[in-house]
This record gives sequence, C-alpha cells and structure tokens, in this order.
Amino acid sequence: MRFSALTLFAGACAAASLPAIKVKGNAFYNSESGDRFYIRGVDYQPGGSSNLTDPLGDAEICGRDIPYFQELGLNTIRVYSVDNTLDHSECMEKLADAGIYLILDLNTPDASLSRHDPGCSYNAVYLNEVFSTVDEFANYTNVLGFFAANELVNNEATLDTAPYIKAVVRDTKKYISARNYRQIPVGYSAADVSSLRKELADYLNCGNDSNARIDMLGVNDYSWCGSSSFTTSGYSEKVKMYTGYSVPIFLSEYGCNQVPGSRPFTEVKSIYSTQMSSVFSGGLVYQYTEDSSKYGLVQVESDTSVETLTDFDNLREELNSTEDPTGTAGASTSNSISSCPTNWNFSITVPTAPDGLAKLLKNGATGGNGFDASTQESCGDDAYYVSSTVKTSSTQSSNHSTAVSSSSSKATSTSSARATSSSSSTSKAIAAQLKTHGFTAVLTFIAAVFFY
Ligand SMILES: *[C@@H]1O[C@H](CO)[C@@H](O)[C@H](O)[C@H]1NC(C)=O
Ligand SMILES: *[C@@H]1O[C@H](CO)[C@@H](O)[C@H](O)[C@H]1NC(C)=O
Ligand SMILES: *[C@@H]1O[C@H](CO)[C@@H](O)[C@H](O)[C@H]1NC(C)=O
Ligand SMILES: *[C@@H]1O[C@H](CO)[C@@H](O)[C@H](O)[C@H]1NC(C)=O
Ligand SMILES: *[C@@H]1O[C@H](CO)[C@@H](O)[C@H](O)[C@H]1NC(C)=O
Ligand SMILES: *[C@@H]1O[C@H](CO)[C@@H](O)[C@H](O)[C@H]1NC(C)=O
Repeated sequence: MRFSALTLFAGACAAASLPAIKVKGNAFYNSESGDRFYIRGVDYQPGGSSNLTDPLGDAEICGRDIPYFQELGLNTIRVYSVDNTLDHSECMEKLADAGIYLILDLNTPDASLSRHDPGCSYNAVYLNEVFSTVDEFANYTNVLGFFAANELVNNEATLDTAPYIKAVVRDTKKYISARNYRQIPVGYSAADVSSLRKELADYLNCGNDSNARIDMLGVNDYSWCGSSSFTTSGYSEKVKMYTGYSVPIFLSEYGCNQVPGSRPFTEVKSIYSTQMSSVFSGGLVYQYTEDSSKYGLVQVESDTSVETLTDFDNLREELNSTEDPTGTAGASTSNSISSCPTNWNFSITVPTAPDGLAKLLKNGATGGNGFDASTQESCGDDAYYVSSTVKTSSTQSSNHSTAVSSSSSKATSTSSARATSSSSSTSKAIAAQLKTHGFTAVLTFIAAVFFY
C-alpha cells in the first residue's frame, strides 16, 4: 500500500525526463542503455521566417504536432529559432513524454552572426542572447545538442566567417561548463557547398583548443532526389570523404523536392544502414510544415489542426520499414581530430572573445529579449542579417554538386526577391547601398540584381 502510494506520488510529480544522449567518438549513445542513437527527425519551424513563431513556447502548437511526430516514429526534432523570454517547460515535457529529443539552433534572425560583418556581430549583447537561450534549455535532458550557427558559410567568399563559428562554439561550451550544466553537445549545421565540404568540416574539428572544436556536425544535403541510389546520389562519396572524422555527423536537413510529385524518401533505407552508419548518425527531414517552398509533410489548418500530405505517409512508411543497424555498426572512438587548413587566404585564428564574456561566464546571462533582440545595431548594416531560421528558397543541384540552401537576408526577404544563392558580395553591396543611399536605393539595387 505504502509503496504504491509513493510510486503514484513520484509518478505524478516527476518531471518528464529522457536519458541524455552522449557523444562518444563519432557517434551518439543513449547514456542509460549504452545503445547507439540514430537521429530520426524532422526540422520544425511552423510559420517559417515569414511568420516567425516559437513552436516550443506554446503548448497548443507543440501539442498539436507531437502526435504526428510520434506517428512518424521520430526521436528528434530540430528547431531553428526560439523565443528565450518564453517558458518552454510544457512543450519540453510533452516531447520527453513522447520520447523526442531536441536539437536547437541558438540564433534568431536578428540575433546571429552577420556574414557581412562577422567581427561586429560577434559582440557581448549577442552572446547574452545565445547564453540566455542555453539557460532556458540546459536543464532538459532531452536537449540532444545546440547548433551555434546554421549555414553561415554559404559559398567560397563567406568562408572567412568560419573562425567566428568556432568562437561562438568555444564561448558556448565555456558557458555550459561555467554554469555547471550537463555537457550538452555544441555543433554547426553546414550548407552544402561542394568545394568546401571537407575543408570546412576539418577546420571546425581542428586545433588545440578543444572548446573551439565542434562536438557534432550537421550537414544540410539535398543530393538524393526521387528514387536515387546510394551511389547516384553521391552519398557513397560523402561516406568515403568523411571517413575518419572524429565527431558525429548527421543530415541536419534532407529531402530533395526537385522531382515531380511527392517525395518517396527512399534515402531512409540507406541512411539507417551499415552503408552509412560508420560515418552518419541519421538525419532530419526538411521540413514538418508545408509553405511556399513546398517541403512540407503537413499542411497547417489552424492552431489546433493539421492535415497530413502524401510526403508524410511516404516518410512514415519508409521510417517504419527501416530498423536501425544493430551494435556499434562501424562507429569509431579512435579517430583523431582533423588537421587545420594551411592554405586559406585569411587568418584561421579563432577570434578573441569580446569584453564582457568574462562577466557572462562569472555571473550568468541576464535574460534575453526573444525575437525582439537585435544584436547588430552598432554594426551599421541593418540591411543585412543572417537568417538563422529556415530557407526561403533553395538551389538544389542534382546529386553530387553544390546544393546551397541559402539563408535569406532581411533585405532580400522584405523585397520578396528570391534569396537564391545570396552571395555575400551581393549582400555587402546591398549594405553599402543602404549606407550611402538609403532604403529606396536598396530596393532599386535589389530589383536590378534580381530581375535582370
Ligand atoms: C502566425 O502563426 C501563429 C501561430 O501559429 C498563428 O496563430 C497565426 O495565424 C499565423 N499568422 C499568419 C499570418 O499566418
Ligand atoms: C534549472 O535548474 C536549476 C537548478 O535546479 C534552477 O535553479 C533553474 O531555475 C532551472 N532553470 C530553468 C530555466 O528551469
Ligand atoms: C579568398 O579566395 C576566395 C576565392 O577562392 C575569394 O572568394 C575570397 O574573397 C578570398 N577571401 C579573402 C579574405 O581574400
Ligand atoms: C598546438 O600546440 C602545439 C604545442 O603546444 C603547437 O606547437 C601548435 O602550433 C598548436 N597548434 C595549433 C593549431 O594551435
Ligand atoms: C541525379 O539523380 C537523379 C534522380 O536520382 C538521376 O535520375 C540522375 O541521373 C542523377 N544525375 C547525376 C548527374 O548523377
Ligand atoms: C513500425 O510500426 C509498428 C506499429 O506502430 C511499431 O511497433 C514498430 O516499432 C515500428 N517500426 C519501426 C522501425 O519504427
């Protein structure tokens, strides 16, 4: 009697929690069972960048969607932007109850690194936002990891922003340890720029300062289109290329839609097979919600209802008929960190932290400003922010070559111009136009760039 009353009491009061996922060598493991963990996920940001909403700050929204995640058999979602002023306990507990982990990007469109002026955007006000988001989520054991940045490098000309990615990774890892939080993995989600795949991955995983190295690498990859194959898609080459990489790699976005009709998701059979498991640890489909980019699995009808699309059924069937590989499936704990590049045309030294980091580490962050945060105000280039949320369009190559899923800039999205391969030179030019000629000139300039 007494025992069952106690059990009941404990059951009613226990905060939902899942065993933390740990990084060991180049794979993820369940910290209780010791089993290897493969991400079965979707990217989740209903509203996208046009109606930026924090789906984890509203129990009605996450509560609407979690049963569908379960129907798909998911164990992970990725959210690109949250509002760090909201309470996330209800959604995080609902996710935990459903056995679902979260990979969270720590940026918002207006609190992120700028490709145009990374040095200025890397400031203490920005770090305070990032760390406030860490504070809000660090207690939940179903946080699988954080992304310090998404697709900041999106072509060769923006490779020189990479040292700033490492700076934010380093500072975030220092913060997590200074606040005595669980050792939550911190990583980066990379755009698929074919000429930079390996060297950027190596740079992020090189150097003596272990804090400045990523704990996990997400690669956004749209190379498997329709009923492709392991070799035709180029997946086979990527497995070869990343063999020996010392931290977990997974597909942080997949699901090419450059095929007529619905997506068959036949890549699922390869992703969760021993063809890939020695290097890859699963992936996340882009994306849960349908919008104008046509990557959705469900159509949102209202805050309380969605309608599933054919892609949803196809993905569910593929996932359900595909078991994870058994055992460690080729995972390695003996790979070494990568060598740093020696031939880049800029300094690869990780920038020194801004004044103010020491205080944040010592006293903790002061609480963020959510989606109102604007951390580049002193940079004088308000026209250009890196959107850390979702793509507004993407250029997909077939198969092996570059599939750049471009981030949008504020300037291009306001003008509703296509943000396709928004090169940094264009962005820089836009910012320069704004500085010298004001906003109307920028619109004219954009029109000139995009409609000629
Ligand atoms: C934006 O998202 C919120 C939350 O889901 C929703 O209530 C609202 O209707 C959306 N607005 C538009 C214009 O779609
Ligand atoms: C996390 O846990 C600590 C220690 O129990 C507590 O002081 C803190 O308020 C919690 N943070 C959140 C956001 O729940
Ligand atoms: C380095 O070279 C690339 C072309 O390979 C160029 O796009 C980029 O602007 C150069 N960066 C710097 C900092 O000179
Ligand atoms: C790593 O440390 C060694 C020995 O302290 C030093 O010689 C080397 O230059 C360092 N490498 C980097 C990339 O900082
Ligand atoms: C790319 O993939 C499509 C569909 O999977 C295939 O039909 C096509 O031949 C591939 N192209 C190349 C260049 O491999
Ligand atoms: C497939 O669905 C059945 C019924 O819901 C479930 O028991 C099984 O575990 C699923 N298999 C996979 C691989 O998800």
